[in-house]
Amino acid sequence: MMGYSARDAIKCGSATIENHLPETGLQKTVSDILYDLYSSPKRISSKYFYDAEGSRLFTEITRLPEYYPTRTENAILRELPLDKLIGSFDIDIIELGSGDHSKIAIMLDRLLSEDLTHVRYVPVDISQSALETSIMELAGRFPGLAVQAIVADYCHQIHLLPEKRKKLFCFLGSTIGNLNRDEAMDFVRKITRTMNPGDGFLIGFDRIKETAVLEKAYNDATGVTERFNKNILRVVNRLILSDFEPDDFEHKAFYNPSERRIEMHLEAKKQLRIRCPFIEKHFELHKGESIHTENSHKFELHDILAIGAYAGLSADRLFSDNNAWFSLAYFLKTE
Ligand SMILES: C[S@@+](CC[C@H](N)C(=O)[O-])C[C@H]1O[C@@H](n2cnc3c(N)ncnc32)[C@H](O)[C@@H]1O
Repeated sequence: MMGYSARDAIKCGSATIENHLPETGLQKTVSDILYDLYSSPKRISSKYFYDAEGSRLFTEITRLPEYYPTRTENAILRELPLDKLIGSFDIDIIELGSGDHSKIAIMLDRLLSEDLTHVRYVPVDISQSALETSIMELAGRFPGLAVQAIVADYCHQIHLLPEKRKKLFCFLGSTIGNLNRDEAMDFVRKITRTMNPGDGFLIGFDRIKETAVLEKAYNDATGVTERFNKNILRVVNRLILSDFEPDDFEHKAFYNPSERRIEMHLEAKKQLRIRCPFIEKHFELHKGESIHTENSHKFELHDILAIGAYAGLSADRLFSDNNAWFSLAYFLKTE
């Protein structure tokens, strides 16, 4: 469950997990959600996808044949020159939006066990359940690996990130594409301000490609993405005590060429009245009206370089698959 209730730090072997989400405050969460639902067009932030069920469904999506980004990025990760990125220094690998940690596991698997003693892994995710599962699995798979998991909103709780040691930030899965283009620039710049010279930032970017390939990845034949999209309404119901009925909505995902992004929406199948105790009256959706739930921006090479340049990072290396469907950019803080 997305952890909005306070909870003590949990320990598992040499791993710890701390939940900082309660510091955001439930009242602020409720007012943010209502503000977005009263906007025109209506929207819900994609960060609310990820309760336990949402995180589980996302992992299922990453294994679908239509969902090319994960297997393409994983293949690139298997070939990365880790000696250059991680070296043999004491280092914090800070993964933003770590999800099921499967990508870091690919990198950690390639390090010799003595190199792991220099590494502290710091996964940061809004999904408490994803991090709980991660610390259990990592403790079994990489005994002795130091893990300090942080349940937090990486957009608003950057102050929680460790600063002292040498750092490699990882922001994988093209999660950067969920931010709008200006937000992505500002976000990378904010993270860069916590970095010291010599620290690195590895970012996964989904590239622009044929529309049919893009749209299929978000409209899989077995309907897992549809279930993932609708699950956001259950999360919202729990947070603002509303009575959205997910099956009153249709899953829509399409490529918007002018914004160069996939958009996901939930479209009302009929006129709806949604009740919520935090508002005086119900609010209405007319038949065909949609709630915008996710953007997944796609990137050209110049977008990637612009993000690094705006943050003052130097673009050290770009790793891509042969079709240039996905790229991992390694940026370095030089001064
Ligand atoms: C698209 S998934 C990617 C997961 C993983 N990095 C991968 O590549 O498979 C986005 C991840 O970021 C997390 N997330 C989304 N918004 C977040 C936020 N504002 N703060 C912290 N984590 C967030 C989600 O819980 C989810 O695990």
